[in-house]
Amino acid sequence: MPSKNNKRKRPERPTIHPRNKYADSPPDFALLASLYPSFEPFVFYSRDGHPRIDWTDFNATRELTRVLLLHDHSLNWWIPDGQLCPTVPNRSNYIHWIEDLLSSEIIPKNQTLGDLVRGFDIGTGANCIYPLLGSSLLGWSFVGSDITDVALEWAERNVNKNPHVSQLIEIRKVTVHGVELPAQELSDALAVDHESSEVAGGRYCGPPILLGVVREGEKFDFCMCNPPFFESTEEAGLNPKTSCGGTPEEMVCPGGEQAFITRMIEDSVVLKDSFRWYTSMIGRKINLKFLTSKLRDVGVTIVKTTEFVQGQTCRWGLAWSFLPPTKKILPPAAVQRTNISFMLERVGRQFSAMHILQSIEPLFQTNGASCKLNASSFTVDITAPRLHCEDLMEYDAKCIEKPMESKPVEKASDNMSFQISIFQQQPGTLLVKASLQNKDCPFSGMFSSVIHKLEEIMRQRFCRARDLPR
Ligand SMILES: C[S@@+](CC[C@H](N)C(=O)[O-])C[C@H]1O[C@@H](n2cnc3c(N)ncnc32)[C@H](O)[C@@H]1O
Repeated sequence: MPSKNNKRKRPERPTIHPRNKYADSPPDFALLASLYPSFEPFVFYSRDGHPRIDWTDFNATRELTRVLLLHDHSLNWWIPDGQLCPTVPNRSNYIHWIEDLLSSEIIPKNQTLGDLVRGFDIGTGANCIYPLLGSSLLGWSFVGSDITDVALEWAERNVNKNPHVSQLIEIRKVTVHGVELPAQELSDALAVDHESSEVAGGRYCGPPILLGVVREGEKFDFCMCNPPFFESTEEAGLNPKTSCGGTPEEMVCPGGEQAFITRMIEDSVVLKDSFRWYTSMIGRKINLKFLTSKLRDVGVTIVKTTEFVQGQTCRWGLAWSFLPPTKKILPPAAVQRTNISFMLERVGRQFSAMHILQSIEPLFQTNGASCKLNASSFTVDITAPRLHCEDLMEYDAKCIEKPMESKPVEKASDNMSFQISIFQQQPGTLLVKASLQNKDCPFSGMFSSVIHKLEEIMRQRFCRARDLPR
């Protein structure tokens, strides 16, 4: 049955990079099913007539990726069962963010590289997704490194199946001092030994990442990395809502992403100007803070971060350089903050994301403030007058039941409008994002204080003791 309304509504959150191919028209499953018979069995229709796929079925997500790469990027692609299956719109966001970094010229181009952009994809995987997208979308050349035989074999196959880009991509096996890693040694290095990783203080002790893999004299415009995020296989198997595969070698490393990216930073201190930009994806916001402060310690000249949002999943991008920036960068204090986020960790089991979202309404529904909750996008839109914001700042977070006092209603033009979104990161951990909608509001400077107060109230109400501010 074809979709009644093929133009699916764009979600209200800023989910996608504006240059992403899917920014204005998300993948049309009905059209793809009609064009690719192998995809058709995976598509079903919900009661409202929308075509859907079962995101918990690995075969469905892999077939979707295959047809999207073929249909929209003219790329032939496949991966064996169980290997990590990338989502194309999400991976394209990272590519476009790097494109922004390069074109901003904050860090000037290395003249010796000529016009061709040269990237290094750390851990390219069997799917080889970043080199394939970067070369086909933007004509970039890549070295894609990996450590496992299956990743190297399938990455090579995926490159060779695409003669129009194959000249642009080199797949490089990670070796130790020029010697290939024997399979047993490799699995030993990747095995998660909790005792020894505690002893080593979560230090990365696996195969080389950049140092020893980048060759003498090589220069790159950027490196990118989707690191093994997790410290253990138990932690890696947490998302029951999607099935994108992923073997322990792909998803897990001792010390998790924090240790992996810390090693990347240490390598970058030695390799310095061999790369114009060093970048990595990050899965947990708490690690973003840790790694950013690590970067300040090692004396980088610039740090840039971004957020990649897709559905209920949120990831971050971290970029740094050792080259001197060309433009004057405003110190963060001078920049008006219009997007603020914070994590709620150790959230009590009895509180769902919806429960927490609903708790925001009564806080704002007095004194002419209005609140609109959207249960499908997990957002709440708030419009609050200045007096209300001032009152909230006085609110005693510990006195849970105390209602806010009523005050005379102010002119609508004096209202501050903002949106709060809640994302489930993993059980017991939520990400709360606030974004100011009317930046020209006369008291927009209060936005940060209002959100910090909201954070304090939420922690008091929903987080178990260790998470309370000291
Ligand atoms: C999360 S997967 C990412 C795969 C692919 N880039 C993607 O985004 O779907 C991480 C990859 O890093 C590889 N890997 C782990 N340690 C590595 C190292 N030291 N050097 C290169 N690759 C590594 C793993 O084998 C795996 O293929």
